[in-house]
Amino acid sequence: MCGIVAILNTTRYEDSVKQTISALERMEYRGYDSSGIAFIDKEHTLHRICSVGKINNLYTKCSSIDGTCSAIVGHTRWATHGIVTVENAHPQVTGNIAIVHNGIIENYNELKNIVNEPFTSNTDSEIISQLIFHYMKTGMTFKNAFLKTITMLEGSYAVAAICSDCPTTMLGAKKGSPLVVGSDQNHIYMASDAVALSQMTPNITYLEENDVIVAEQGSFQILENGTQQIHRNSVPNTISTENIDKGEYEDFMIKEINEEPAAVSNAYNKFKCSVNIEKYSTIHMIACGSSHYVCILAKYIIEKQKKIRIITEIASEFRYRCPVLNKDTLYVFVSQSGETSDTLGAMRLVLSQNMDTLAIVNVQESSIAREAKHCIYTNAGVEIGVASTKTFVSQLVTLLLTAGIDIPVMEVCKSINKVLNNTKNIFSTAQTLIKHKTLLFIGRGVCYPIAMEGALKIKEITYTPTEGYPSGEIKHGPIAIVDNTVCSVVIAINDDLYEKTMSNMEEIKARGGNIVTIGYKSNNICIDDEEMPSIFASITAVHMLAYYAAKLKNLDVDKPRNLAKSVTVE
Ligand code: M6R
Repeated sequence: MCGIVAILNTTRYEDSVKQTISALERMEYRGYDSSGIAFIDKEHTLHRICSVGKINNLYTKCSSIDGTCSAIVGHTRWATHGIVTVENAHPQVTGNIAIVHNGIIENYNELKNIVNEPFTSNTDSEIISQLIFHYMKTGMTFKNAFLKTITMLEGSYAVAAICSDCPTTMLGAKKGSPLVVGSDQNHIYMASDAVALSQMTPNITYLEENDVIVAEQGSFQILENGTQQIHRNSVPNTISTENIDKGEYEDFMIKEINEEPAAVSNAYNKFKCSVNIEKYSTIHMIACGSSHYVCILAKYIIEKQKKIRIITEIASEFRYRCPVLNKDTLYVFVSQSGETSDTLGAMRLVLSQNMDTLAIVNVQESSIAREAKHCIYTNAGVEIGVASTKTFVSQLVTLLLTAGIDIPVMEVCKSINKVLNNTKNIFSTAQTLIKHKTLLFIGRGVCYPIAMEGALKIKEITYTPTEGYPSGEIKHGPIAIVDNTVCSVVIAINDDLYEKTMSNMEEIKARGGNIVTIGYKSNNICIDDEEMPSIFASITAVHMLAYYAAKLKNLDVDKPRNLAKSVTVE
């Protein structure tokens, strides 16, 4: 999490504050609890301006300053170490050094013994500016102090540093967190991702692990492992800012839910498979959050239709349980962002044992996309809302096509569109939900992962305690919570498990629990009968339901509290 940006003005002093804040805004999906900038002015003075809350607050704070500078660094934060305060916001400054950092420095406590200056924050990141400052006091140049510092850091980092005594130098390094670099005639840029630089540089270079950037005297060099200069290819930065506009919609989330039919068609029409899955005895799907629920949903469909053995697993568990890997297995990593730290860590573990990996990713050129042996893009387009919506359906299409299951795209889109046009019923169902303190989403078979997806969306954007459970399992415990303060959302499509779920619904009713339904013959949110279209339509229905519940509670659906879109820390 966290987004960093850095600009070096190579030919003249320029006011780069607005440009930096715009880049931060485009990375706000990475974290948004506080933000800040630091820049070096014409007198070689270092200025730090930070604020708590969304980037708009930083914008207001900077609106009347003269930001003419030689170099500037900016940061948008998702707190890991240290609560949300101005002191803990980045840039972290020690003496003449300002740094911005994305990642976690695991040995920061140990390293504190090396330096003498008092710490001004509770962050792990401050150790970076402290160490650079410390080594410069021993006589090292800024560059050497930076290089020495990064060799001491354990954990992950994308870091950028500037020093007011070296106003025409900007340094950066990457290990475990993404960093890109680009330039034009008058500037050198670094940022956590290509989106940040989308209006700035037409070409970008993705750094490799342990690369260091040294930008000085108007150009930059990439040093492999901080030593040998190395050439890395640049690629066109194709991300257009038009795609990151809300258009006619009030929020990105509702825009993106409305894009679900297009996401299905694009994933289908642009699908390009580079792997023959028939040669594997097992498919092991690994992911986090909603992407993990997509894997479970795909497993139910693929095992039933294709009789292929599928295992699904949460990445953060897989990577640390010493899994026994198998050459006959294809390891599939599903991730919207392609940067999720646990999914990437799990994939690197599999790669280190020379097993076959397939990445199913939305963000092109992301770390998971680049490192996997095979990669299939889901082609959903940029997703800004923290809650994943259109990417969920595009991941499902991609997984099914990979397994050789054809999808009746026209019918699927038609059914989704019916749900999108059913705003009135979904809105009134959301009104019922928000009257309850606790929610329970239940379903059987394919409706079980959809129930978990619905529960996760409700938790994420309405902050309501919600469980997602298999319908058949509630009598083994969860039914104990049922009373009239609990509302259960029962998801049941027209399949062979429908009647069983209806019986489970009766068990809840018999205990005084309130019920709303999504699916076949529903009085609340009725869904088409055909199996495949109804699966997709039910997904859209839970997304819409969560959206309207959050809107009724007047909450920020695009940037819910405590979260970030891209989870680049463990
Ligand atoms: O980018 P990824 O698909 O790897 O992200 C995984 C999860 O962090 C993500 O699905 C998260 O659960 C969403 N916010 C759910 O809406």
